Amino acid sequence: MTARSSDSFKIGIAGLGTVGVGVVKILQQNADTVAQRAGKKIDIVSVIASSKDKDRGVDLSSYEWADDLKQMAQDNRLDCVVELIGGSDGAVLDMVETAIVNGKDIVTANKALLAHHGYRLAEIAEGESVTIAYEAAVAGGIPIIKSLREGLAANRMQAVSGILNGTCNYILSDMRTSGRDFNTVLKEAQEKGYAEADPTFDVDGIDTAHKLTLLAALAFGVKPDFDALQIQGIRDITAHDIDLADMLGCRIKLLGSAKEQAGKVLQTVEPCLVPTEGMLGSTSGVYNAVLTQGDPVGQSVAIGLGAGEGPTASSVVADIIDIAKGYRQSVFGIPVQCLREMTWENGDAFEAPYYVRLMLSEQNASDAVVESIKDAFTQGGICIDKTIMSADKAVVAFLTKQMTGADVKNKADIIMKQVGGVKPPLILRVER
Ligand code: HSE
Repeated sequence: MTARSSDSFKIGIAGLGTVGVGVVKILQQNADTVAQRAGKKIDIVSVIASSKDKDRGVDLSSYEWADDLKQMAQDNRLDCVVELIGGSDGAVLDMVETAIVNGKDIVTANKALLAHHGYRLAEIAEGESVTIAYEAAVAGGIPIIKSLREGLAANRMQAVSGILNGTCNYILSDMRTSGRDFNTVLKEAQEKGYAEADPTFDVDGIDTAHKLTLLAALAFGVKPDFDALQIQGIRDITAHDIDLADMLGCRIKLLGSAKEQAGKVLQTVEPCLVPTEGMLGSTSGVYNAVLTQGDPVGQSVAIGLGAGEGPTASSVVADIIDIAKGYRQSVFGIPVQCLREMTWENGDAFEAPYYVRLMLSEQNASDAVVESIKDAFTQGGICIDKTIMSADKAVVAFLTKQMTGADVKNKADIIMKQVGGVKPPLILRVER
């Protein structure tokens, strides 16, 4: 085994998909700039991916092909392992753990791994005096991890929320502008390299939940806890919902939201209505937007491309540069043993106006039926601010006054049983 030298920073890259190839391209094409910023040359010593012979459109001939993940994790020549395979368990988890106990820093874009095992991996890493850097794991090219951990470090953070999944934002934006159906737009997002290997993680909100878990840990200094999250994806959103939201001056976005309030963190991942003209409403396509609220800084917003080769690889290389120049941070901003245990509340505790949408059968699609349902809602304790409906009156939505999600869901459940003959409503929070 060759001993490590300090005139260059030696890395192994595991995973040569969209992001891995992007990292190789940056390290080849911007080699001088990167070396200048890192204070030393970055050397790719070895790479590994599922297939050695595949043409990836990038020259890999000067790099060794590692025997397997374990060999890369134990390779004494490497300072850092860049993990871009994805997945939260199995061989990837083993590799990261092995690399850490072999004294290597980790750079990863793997939010699933860190949302599920981040606390334990941080304990091991901090015990070995190495770090796990994961700027690319949340919001692609937006440096939100660094912002929360460093730029906003003086603040008592009160809230962090935003559009954290490029694929969902791309789908919802495109469905609105092109009128194309959900599956066609999802396929396009996969072809462009935005979607996860398993795109159900995107559309069912799991990817957003992984990212929110990390943001909440950083913002509030709490142990990451993925299981404390209530998650709802975008599959139930129809073209009717997009049109009705438009009539209310809103767009529908999949939001991850976490707020510290009275010693508890309320957090949720769910599609919400947001004002069209606001920061979130005007963030379209594969863009992400992250809103932070802190005392005394107030509100900040960061917007940028949230997925794809360039933005994600840019964040990976930024982490490599930081570590190469000797700049290491605690994984969650403060030493892992200082992270607080938290009492979590799910999103049903959020107080807001709610959008309640009902689909009526052909024979029920009339003003009289809508009026009778509206009366039932009012008598059942749900105050309605506005009623809107599709031209054929088959799709009706009520906008409620301010109430908690739990209240509106419980009351709507009782009311719908009394009304009978109408499917359970879709209920979405309106985020002002
Ligand atoms: N599938 C993710 C997204 C990739 O669409 O945002 C970036 O994490």
